[in-house]
Amino acid sequence: MRSVVLVGGFGTRLRPLTLSVPKPMLPVGHIAIIERLIENLVRGGVTDVTLALGFRPEPFLQAFPDGTCAGAQLTYAVEPEPLDTGGAIRFAALFAGIDSTFVVANGDVLTDLDVGALVQFHRNSGAEATLHLTPVEDPSAFGVVDQESSGIVRRFIEKPPPGTSPSNLINAGTYVFESSVIARIPDGRKVSVEREIFPALVADQTLWAMATNDYWIDTGQPDLYLKANLDVITQRRAEHNWAHGVAEGAVIGTGVALSDTVVADGVSIGDGADVSDSVLLAGASVGPGAHVRHSVVMGHIGARAVISNCVIGAGVEIADGTHHADERIPAPSA
Ligand code: GDD
Ligand code: MG
Repeated sequence: MRSVVLVGGFGTRLRPLTLSVPKPMLPVGHIAIIERLIENLVRGGVTDVTLALGFRPEPFLQAFPDGTCAGAQLTYAVEPEPLDTGGAIRFAALFAGIDSTFVVANGDVLTDLDVGALVQFHRNSGAEATLHLTPVEDPSAFGVVDQESSGIVRRFIEKPPPGTSPSNLINAGTYVFESSVIARIPDGRKVSVEREIFPALVADQTLWAMATNDYWIDTGQPDLYLKANLDVITQRRAEHNWAHGVAEGAVIGTGVALSDTVVADGVSIGDGADVSDSVLLAGASVGPGAHVRHSVVMGHIGARAVISNCVIGAGVEIADGTHHADERIPAPSA
């Protein structure tokens, strides 16, 4: 089974982390989001992945130099300009020569969905396209789906105003498409698969959906990216996704208090520091006596600094003894 994975977004909501690393290459529990995602596709029977890239393929080429990822063969489709989700699917599918049933995935979603079961559901219903759905508390930030008990989709509404959603089931970002969907996507302009193509499929009664309660998270915002990391080290996902918090090559000082924290290879934590509910990414360091809680760090935290609910970008130096709460450094507008 072939697939298209959308990885062309700018990762704006994850700045400053995405100033130095493309969103899909950010690690969750030491493994890049894209690698965890592809691993789950491969478990479900996917053998080939075409990455739909909006810009620079270099970080991906470097990360997967032999052209494979998690056992899947990779193809890189680089759009001449961002074509939005539908335009990107069309561009990538034509580039790769896809001409039969294929899987599509949003590149920032991590899930324990059985992709093989979604494909089976798709084949059994005779759908033209099938969506994976997941329940959420506030559907307004997502594509909301109203379906019949058979599974056929009655309505698809992308990001409805708060309080107007007909259900709490949302588009979870994994699809099975017949190749006829590609022909529905207009050429030569931006096309949103969610705003244009799904409503057209609904009108033709050929869009189906399968809801599951599998682990699911969109990693595209700092607090959710942090949660995705903590979920793999605190064993809240299927067992094959579990990871140790502290990498072997991390350098931990004496008297350090460390709880529910991911510490990347090469990161150093000074004596007496206290770090909890956080992610210390490659390049980060924490000075002696510093306190870091509920933060994602790529830069250096000075001695005795106190950091809470922050996102600290690569190369940033937090001065000794300073206090920061609820900040992104540098600020996204900078
Ligand atoms: N190649 C390419 N080109 N990829 C793109 C482009 C583009 O122009 N625009 C967005 N993408 C990629 C993003 O990188 C991401 O992997 C995926 O398409 C979805 O875009 P997001 O920007 O993350 O969308 P969202 O999270 O607001 O909403 C989408 O995901 C929700 C589930 O997480 C929608 O599909 C919603 O309907 C869905 O509920
Ligand atoms: Mg997203």
